[in-house]
Amino acid sequence: MNFTNKNVIISGGSQGIGLATAKAFIEHGANVLITGRNPETLQKAAEAINSSNLQILAADTSNLNGISVLEKWVAESGKKVDVLYLNAAIGVYAPIEHVTEADFDAQFNVNVKGHFFTLRQLIPHLADGASVIFTSSRVAAAAGIASSVYSATKAALNKIAEIAVNELAERKIRVNIVSPGPIQTPGLLTVASQEVQGFLASRSALQRLGNAEEVANTVLFLASDEASYINGADIAVDGGSIPYMLK
Ligand SMILES: NC(=O)c1ccc[n+]([C@@H]2O[C@H](COP(=O)([O-])OP(=O)(O)OC[C@H]3O[C@@H](n4cnc5c(N)ncnc54)[C@H](OP(=O)(O)O)[C@@H]3O)[C@@H](O)[C@H]2O)c1
Repeated sequence: MNFTNKNVIISGGSQGIGLATAKAFIEHGANVLITGRNPETLQKAAEAINSSNLQILAADTSNLNGISVLEKWVAESGKKVDVLYLNAAIGVYAPIEHVTEADFDAQFNVNVKGHFFTLRQLIPHLADGASVIFTSSRVAAAAGIASSVYSATKAALNKIAEIAVNELAERKIRVNIVSPGPIQTPGLLTVASQEVQGFLASRSALQRLGNAEEVANTVLFLASDEASYINGADIAVDGGSIPYMLK
């Protein structure tokens, strides 16, 4: 896979899956911009990758002001976007009766509204033939207790992606979804105890958690010319997991 001179934007690229994907794109020759809210985490990511092909931008994807920071950066770069990887998300886990309005809004704002409006604002900046990839989750098709809002955000994202496939086809822009199972990232490790991690690993046919590089490899493939006839796919990267409490 060769991404030389390709311009890649990754929302939520300062750690975890986004960071591993940024690293992989750079190893394959791309110019990459990563976003996140925390400037310190972004700076650490830049030091870890240590490449002049990487740029960082503090931009909160949960609201239109933050998204306009990204849009302005892209417009001023004067370059078309070849790969847009919409990856940022937050998860707050609680039974329905304990979910607060603030937690509900925060998750929908980042995980759904953020990606919807980032895509909307960047459509004019996408190259014809570009690739758009959403990070969803296997939970979109599951019904695990305490995950109602997070799972609903991912199911909503899948529907937006499905429709984007049809709306962007005229410009030969491919839109695909990557749906990870449990992946060892800072995001997962902060919400899942050792016991929960063990449980999640036991639900995988491979009997382990995944790592961020395994998701990154899938994103690169979907973005590459090798996947030129893959459009509207939802690729599970879960080691053959049995989603927790499938519908
Ligand atoms: N890890 C898993 O087991 C797993 C499983 C299924 C799906 N996923 C999905 O995979 C994606 C990445 O997950 P991860 O585990 O790598 O997450 P993570 O380690 O928590 O990293 C999340 C990234 O998103 C950024 N972010 C969060 N809110 C943001 C906002 N409002 N604006 C801009 N950036 C924001 C974070 O930076 P800041 O905090 O600095 O903003 C960070 O760079 C997510 O979509 C997640 O839902 C993960």
